[in-house]
This record gives sequence, structure tokens and C-alpha cells, in this order.
Amino acid sequence: MQRLDSFASQNQVVDLGPWLQYYAFDVVGMFTFDKKFGFLEQGKDIDSIMSTIEFILAYSAIIGQVPALHLLLLGNPLLIKLMPPMEQWNQTVQFTLKAMRERAEMKPGGEYTVSNTDGKDFLSKLASSKSSEDEKMNVRDLVIALAGNVFAGSDTTAIALRAIVYYLCRYPKCLAKLADEIMKHDKDSKLSSPINFKEASAIPYLSAVIKEAMRLHPSVGLILERHVPPQGVEIEGHFLPGRTVVGVNPWVTGRNAETFPQPNEFCPERWLEVPEQELRAMDNLLEFNFGAGARKCLGRHMAWIEMMKVIPELIRRFEIEFADPERDWHVTNHW
Ligand code: HEM
Repeated sequence: MQRLDSFASQNQVVDLGPWLQYYAFDVVGMFTFDKKFGFLEQGKDIDSIMSTIEFILAYSAIIGQVPALHLLLLGNPLLIKLMPPMEQWNQTVQFTLKAMRERAEMKPGGEYTVSNTDGKDFLSKLASSKSSEDEKMNVRDLVIALAGNVFAGSDTTAIALRAIVYYLCRYPKCLAKLADEIMKHDKDSKLSSPINFKEASAIPYLSAVIKEAMRLHPSVGLILERHVPPQGVEIEGHFLPGRTVVGVNPWVTGRNAETFPQPNEFCPERWLEVPEQELRAMDNLLEFNFGAGARKCLGRHMAWIEMMKVIPELIRRFEIEFADPERDWHVTNHW
């Protein structure tokens, strides 16, 4: 908010896109390593981690659809022999190791010691699970779990935040309605500074706006694949043989007209004006933005808290509008 204040006080146009991602990254740093990465402070893509993630996703989006290409590109056996191991040039891993090294001493063979394991951050929790031999995690396990947060938790949340801000600016009446509700709560001294999750949850139109923007613009835009077990499976009356790849794209579930009439309309009210049972069906479909089953997003509650806190704070403090209402946003699908 301080950084945005400095732009606002100079009446300067600001691209909120990167700033929302800096925020998401710093939050990941806090709950993963109990450390601010400093994206907001420095106002830049530290160690090019954001562009690295974008590159990996762009690559994976293509390879996910045409897996054979991988053998000619990064999976080329010749390249694997010539290039240093992936963990040396994969910036996500390097970035995670750098953050870990500030608290952890890592020894060859996978042993490690971590200072301050009393915190609520992931590194503390995972490192203290060492006490039970069965659950003992080696350095590799730790890096995988923590790098997972760095990789999965920032641009997904940033995409959702951007969609929320975008749709609010596209639909100024909804923005005005939300601003009114927030200001009313503020006037009645129901909001601390910064707004906490419980207070934000008491503003029904806020969660309706967030859900509606996420419905129209899920952060993941290709199918979430699952493999049919060897014996095959019957889905909705169709028999699918073993090993068939099945999946649904959240962009499809979110536009299911049976559940969401006039699916292309941005209408937060739809989440507030339905009977309980219909709302449950809508929530279930929206939940698919985070996947389903055993591999469902592990950070979904964190993401929800992050969004519920920052959006009302932004609207309470600033009046937001498009710099150029004639220009639409440019979107690409990198998974
Ligand atoms: C709006 C924000 C987010 C969205 C839309 C989102 C979406 C997803 C999706 C679609 C998956 C794959 C699920 C599947 O295949 O069924 C996933 C996995 C995952 N997400 Fe998120 N995510 C978000 C935020 C976060 C955050 C903040 C974290 C950080 C803790 C996180 C951590 C993870 C992890 C660790 C996985 C892998 C789970 C596994 O494979 O077991 N996500 N997420």
C-alpha cells in the first residue's frame, strides 16, 4: 500500500499486474520461509524468478499437449548429457535453495539442520517433522515441497487478483457497489488496518466479486489431466479404456450455462441471490479452479485469505480505473 501511495500521490499511471504478483510472492516467502522476499520493497522481478516461472509454464503448456516435442527440446538425451543438471539452472530450485540457506545448513548426503523451527512457516514445520524417523524428510524432499510453493503459489494467485481488478474496472457499477459496502464497514469501525480475513469475510459482496472473477478467468486454462486405471472406468455412461487421459478445463466448468445462466456475464449478484442448494452446486464447480482429488491445490485456503485481504484494502485506499478504457487486456494461456 505504501508503494501504491507513492504512485497515487504523484498521479502516476501504474500497471498493477506486476505489483499484484510481487505481493503474492512476498506472501509465499512469509508463509514458506518466514521471510519477506522483498519483491514489493524492490519493485522488481528478483532473480528473474517471475520470468522463469512464465517460461517453464509456456514450455509445459506446449509439451503437455504435444509430449513428443520434449524429446527434441529440453528432454533431448544429448542435451541432458551436455547440460548441467536441471537443479543447477532451474531458477525455481535455485531461488528456493537461496531462501533455505539463510536458515538451513545443508550437508552432503541429504542431512541438514534448520535454525528456528518454532515458527508457523512451512520450513519450520517440515524441518521439525524430522523428530519422527518415519517422517524424516531429506534435503531433496524439503526442496521439492518448498519449491512447490514458490512455483505454484505466486502467479496463480496473481492471475486471480488481476482478473478481480480487471473485471471491477470493466464493470464500474460493481466496483462502486463493492466500494460502498467496504466504506460502510469502514465507517462503522468494523475494519482494522490492514483489514483482516474475518472482517473481510463479513462483506458478502466481496467474496461474490472474487468468485465471479475467478469463474470467468480461472488461473489454470488447460485440462487437469487424470489417467484412467488399467481396468478402465465408466464415466457418465461411457466406458473409457485403461490409460485414457481424461480431464476438464476449469474455463469450461465455469461457463456451464446450466449452473451459471448467461455464463459470459460478469454478475457477482448471482452468488448472493440463489437458494442454498444451488449455491452449493456453484461453489463445487468453482472449486475446480483449484483442481480435484488427491492432487488438489494445497494452497487454496492461503490464496483465498490473500485475496480477501488485499482487494478490500486496495479499494478502501484508492480509486482505481483503467488508464485507457478503450484498450482491452492482453491474455495468453500458459497452462
Ligand atoms: C488462486 C490461486 C491458486 C489457484 C487457482 C491454484 C490452482 C491450482 C491447481 C489447478 C492445481 C493442480 C490441481 C490438480 O491437478 O487437481 C494446484 C496445485 C498446487 N497448488 Fe495451487 N493454486 C493457487 C494458489 C496456490 C498457493 C497460494 C499455493 C501455495 C502454498 C499453492 C500450492 C499448490 C501446490 C503445492 C500444488 C500441488 C499439489 C499436489 O500436486 O499435490 N497454490 N493449484
